Amino acid sequence: MKSKLRTYDIIKKKRDGYPLSREEIRYFISGVVSGDIADYQTSAFLMAVYLRGMNYEETTELTLAIRDSGEKADFSGVKGVRADKHSTGGVGDKTSLVVVPAVASLGLKCAKVSGRGLGHTGGTVDKLESVRGFDTGLGKKEFVDAVNDVGCAIIGQTAKIAPADKILYALRDVTATIDSLPLIASSIMGKKLAVGDDVIVLDVKTGSGAFMKTEEESVRLAEIMVEVGKRAGKKTSALVTDMDMPLGRAIGNAVEVKEAIETMKGKGDGRFLSLCAALSAEMLYSAGYGELKDCEKAFYKSINEGKALETFRKMIERQGGDGGVIDDYGKFPAAKFVREVKAQKTGYIYRIDAEKYGTAACVAGAGRTRAEDAIDFAAGIEIVKTVGEKVGMGETVAKIFSNDANALFEAERIVSSAIEYSESAPDEKPVVIKRIV
Ligand code: URA
Repeated sequence: MKSKLRTYDIIKKKRDGYPLSREEIRYFISGVVSGDIADYQTSAFLMAVYLRGMNYEETTELTLAIRDSGEKADFSGVKGVRADKHSTGGVGDKTSLVVVPAVASLGLKCAKVSGRGLGHTGGTVDKLESVRGFDTGLGKKEFVDAVNDVGCAIIGQTAKIAPADKILYALRDVTATIDSLPLIASSIMGKKLAVGDDVIVLDVKTGSGAFMKTEEESVRLAEIMVEVGKRAGKKTSALVTDMDMPLGRAIGNAVEVKEAIETMKGKGDGRFLSLCAALSAEMLYSAGYGELKDCEKAFYKSINEGKALETFRKMIERQGGDGGVIDDYGKFPAAKFVREVKAQKTGYIYRIDAEKYGTAACVAGAGRTRAEDAIDFAAGIEIVKTVGEKVGMGETVAKIFSNDANALFEAERIVSSAIEYSESAPDEKPVVIKRIV
């Protein structure tokens, strides 16, 4: 029987500020995917949602409709509790490269489906592909077997998962409707729920390098996603974490994998390590591995005893990559050109604008501006001096790596403009701002 619903009426209802029913939302999303609803109508719908918002019921229904718009990843062959962490996107955010093997070394199963970088933010799949031979496109059986044997594996998202999100996201991108809380929450959670993990831990970034620039908006986004996850029957929690400055000391692909390895060797940046500890503890706690404090201790033990690193090596080798990169960084792609950025003042580094550093790394070749762009795995930034550290005028604050000599100058200009100096040391900002359960 043909539905009595009309696309026009649904747009009008939302435009006038009324909540939509489950049936209306399902009708709309299935029309978007089948092509029965035109892009101009979808765009009007998105703007109506942007301006009028959605309540929890509507956001949950939109999320579930996006989840159900394509294939579900059936990883039920994985034995044990499956946990995932998801970051809303940041600069220098290589946490998955440490957290996934660390929690896997402690018994959790991580069948991780990750994204690529877009805009000024990086993506785990691109980073891993900087390891020669690493295959992020394993078939389902190989993937499930790898997770059962090693404890973890990481692959890229296929177009078959949540296709509605792809269409909606592309239209949001050109209609100024990206930064809407229900649209972001349903986009992220629709894809996460299609993968079907038992435990979901969200790392909601806040600050200049994040989608959400203010703490208030980020906390709200985290609350909505946690509520939607729970309504969908999943154990879901979130940490709101700082992304006003870049995370750790490296931004790019090969440089970030190297930093993750150094961290697992116990030689990493303290702030980055503490974020990895908090996220790992949250995953273990949610999966029933004991009190948060004990879960955090277990994480540090895994790092100190080299278990996380050994699991990372096994994961690389199982996915066809050269595990020798762990012992010999010379096996990573190297950039032809390096440019040192010098401090323009004597004093303390007061602030580093994360978005600008992310943009500079992209300009050097580490990221893409369009989904089809190729990236330079060797390109990126090493942060020599970070927030709170003392510098003398003319001292090196950052090194930029690239295979494009011309790009280095523009990247250098952006890096220099991203640094603010002060006469006294700034207050230390915590990396974990709030926990939402
Ligand atoms: N990441 C997503 O997957 N979707 C959004 O809308 C924003 C960030």
